[in-house]
Formats: sequence, structure tokens, C-alpha cells
Amino acid sequence: MNDLKKPKFYSNHRYRQDQKKEKYSESHNNLKELLINGQLNIVDIGFGTGTSTKQLSSSDKNNYIGIESYMQGINNLKKYIKKNKIENMCVFHGDAIEIVNEKLPDSSIDQILIFFPDPWPKNKHHKRRIINLYTLNLFFKKLKKGGLLHFATDHIMYAYNTKNMFEKFTGQKILFNSNRRKRPITNYERRGLRRKNFVFDLIIKK
Ligand SMILES: C[S@@+](CC[C@H](N)C(=O)[O-])C[C@H]1O[C@@H](n2cnc3c(N)ncnc32)[C@H](O)[C@@H]1O
Repeated sequence: MNDLKKPKFYSNHRYRQDQKKEKYSESHNNLKELLINGQLNIVDIGFGTGTSTKQLSSSDKNNYIGIESYMQGINNLKKYIKKNKIENMCVFHGDAIEIVNEKLPDSSIDQILIFFPDPWPKNKHHKRRIINLYTLNLFFKKLKKGGLLHFATDHIMYAYNTKNMFEKFTGQKILFNSNRRKRPITNYERRGLRRKNFVFDLIIKK
């Protein structure tokens, strides 16, 4: 039944909600304007230091909405936006689930990317994982018809757990995807590869 509840937000000592008056903050680029400019709308959840968001947004004209709770990552991406006058990116600081729920209009998003979310390998951590039936329902509500949810991890148990969750949610057999699409190599992937971990990609379509 935990699968149907909002995952517990884990602050990991990097997000101090009590120090902030607002629940979450948004960068200077206006999300509403971005969402209607006719480009693809891509959400990068838990972007860490922002490697994927930066690389992806510099390779095309699509709109990138980055969400992170790690303040250093937020500051890093905000600086990058300002310095390079990036107009196709918007950054949110806070709990991704709340931000997706409250800030993204339904059926407005083309892709949701979740690359190397903290794996929470222990059983007792399951309720903190960002993928469960509650979040899949939420993400699919925000995706346009034909929109994609792309998940990647180098944690084998998390990969199989997510695959099972995707199958339960879609009612279809889901295979690991051999095509990483445009997913850039992030620090976390590099770290996994150094440890000789295999990287699993899972993609589902609305
Ligand atoms: C292991 S890092 C991966 C970062 C990046 N995607 C990469 O591939 O390098 C996972 C990130 O997800 C963020 N995160 C986890 N749960 C979150 C949530 N509910 N809301 C916002 N960020 C979250 C963490 O702060 C962390 O920076």
C-alpha cells in the first residue's frame, strides 16, 4: 500500500526547508512562457550538479525544467543560466513531487527524465524512492499523450524494482532499453562505470 502514497521526501541534510519561507523557489525564467513557446517540454528531476540539464539544453532548443533539492546544484545551474543567458531553462528548488504536482499543468510535458535517483537499497528505504504507483500516476497526468518517462540507474535492485513498478502501472511487459536516447554521461554514471556497474535504462510512453 506504500506504493500508493507520496514518497517521503528525504532532505539528505542538503535541503533545509525550515530555513526558507517559500515551499519551493523558481529561477528567473518564467515557466508559463516556456511551456507555450511550441518547443518540447522536458523535465529533469533530481539533476544533481546539472550536467544532464546543461548538456541537453545546449544541444537543442527544447525547454528544460530542472528540479533539485540540492542547493549547490541549484546555485550552479542558476549561475550557468545567468552567465550564458540561457532562455530555454527553468530551475526549481524543493521537493520534486510537490513541484511537479503544483507547478506543472496536466498534459503539458513531453519528457520526464529521472537519472540515477538515490537508490535507497535497503527495504526500509522503499517508501522514499521516487518511483512508485503514486508518482507514476502523477507523472503520467503531467505528460502529454505520447510523452516519455525515462529512468536510469546503475543499482540493479532499484532497476528491477522500477521495472516491476512500470509493468504493474502500465499492465504491459517492460524491457530494459538498450537505447540511452540523448542521456548524457553524468558524474553518477561515471562513478557507477568506475565500479563496473551496469547501467539500466527504462522508458515508458503515455
Ligand atoms: C544520485 S543524484 C543524481 C544526479 C543526476 N541526475 C546525475 O545523474 O548525476 C540524485 C539527486 O536527486 C535529488 N533528489 C532526490 N529526491 C528528490 C526530490 N524528491 N526532489 C528533488 N530532488 C531530489 C538529490 O538531491 C540528488 O541530487
